[in-house]
Parts: sequence; C-alpha cells; structure tokens
Amino acid sequence: MTQDELKQAVAQAAIQYVVEDSIVGVGTGSTANFFIDELAKIKHKIKGAVASSEATAARLRGHGISVFDLNEVSAMPVYIDGADEITPQGAMIKGGGAALTREKIVASVADKFICIADGSKLVDLLGKFPLPIEVIPMAQAVVMRKLNALGGAAHLRLKDGQPLLTDNGNIIIDVHGLQITDPVALEAAMNNIVGVVTVGLFAKQGANVCLLGTAGGVKTLTF
Ligand code: 5RP
Repeated sequence: MTQDELKQAVAQAAIQYVVEDSIVGVGTGSTANFFIDELAKIKHKIKGAVASSEATAARLRGHGISVFDLNEVSAMPVYIDGADEITPQGAMIKGGGAALTREKIVASVADKFICIADGSKLVDLLGKFPLPIEVIPMAQAVVMRKLNALGGAAHLRLKDGQPLLTDNGNIIIDVHGLQITDPVALEAAMNNIVGVVTVGLFAKQGANVCLLGTAGGVKTLTF
C-alpha cells in the first residue's frame, strides 16, 4: 500500500469515533484532508466541525460541512488529526503544517484526541522530525538563542524565501537534532520561553487513541 492509501485507511477508520449530532474537531494536513473527505459522506449525521486552520475550514466548507467558531462551542467529543511523530505512549510532534497552535487549542476542548497516522509516524524517541515552535516575530532571535541552549539547532521556517507566517501571523522555528527523552518536561521548558506561542510537542495532553495505518491493516493503540 502507498502512504496515501494508508492515510486514507486510517481516515476511514476514524469515522467510527465520530459521535452523531455532535461537533467534530478537525485537524490539518494530508491525513486530516482524507478524514474531511470521509466526514463529508456522513455530514448529515453531524452538527458541524471546528477547524484547526484556514485550510481545513475551506475544505470543510467546500464539502458543505458547517464550520463553527470555537468560541461558540463548549463541548466536543472528539478531535481528529494527524501527527508528524507519535510514540507508543501517545506523545506527539505536530506542526509540520504550521497549524500547531490552533490544533492544540481545539484539541484542548475535545474529550478525546484521535490521532490518525501512517505507520511511518510511530517512533520510540521523538525528535528526528524537527520540532515546530510558533513564535511572536519580534522574539525570533532571543527565542532561537534559548532553543539552541536547550540542545537543538533552531531554524526559521521559510516559504518562497520568506519567513512562513502562520494563520495567526506568527513565525515557525523548527528545532533540529533533538532526542526527546522526556517530552512532558521539554514541552513545559519550551512553553516557559517568553515569545513562544506554542510548542509542537503534544505530550502533557497527548493522543487518547492512535489509528495507525500498516501493511497488515489499521492498528488501534489506546493510551
Ligand atoms: C499540521 C500537523 C499535521 O497533523 C502533521 O504535520 C501531519 O501531517 P500529514 O498528515 O500531512 O502527514 O501537525 O500542523
């Protein structure tokens, strides 16, 4: 199976976690896009969705799914999203698509985080994938110095030769070369750096379930 076929398989499997008549939290990225396409098939069974990015909101609306502002929503049974890396304990690196802040906010409202990922995302040790950090632009230099002092190599993420700007108007610093043995502690330490908006480590509040696409079928990990 191709990586896209594995992503599609987990997206289909995630539909069983969607609660009828509820509002669904929806992530960002290629796996989340497959999920949105599956969700469209049962859109008459849900109230709508909360999107974790402008791109996701546009895709949801394109399918005729109502998109709610998070401020109108106080409860959400599930948030369904991909990951860049996930451990057997459910800690994740996210933010490859630069949507980490809204992803973390929407996930914080949901009762359960359902991670959908192809098997290549499962790792014993987080950090091979550069860790994305959303940062206030004026704090770029000071935050990069402090991230480097924590043992990584901080790089400003560029798009078309310019700093990539998130949906929130901030920049992304990707930290390379980390070997993250204590994700909860590193998430807390990085969160404490002034100028950091969001750390792409989802460890304090990780996934509750991971649907992992493998050649042998979709495996369900629960945490
Ligand atoms: C976006 C994310 C994505 O969930 C993550 O990058 C995985 O993306 P994909 O499903 O395309 O592999 O965190 O900010």
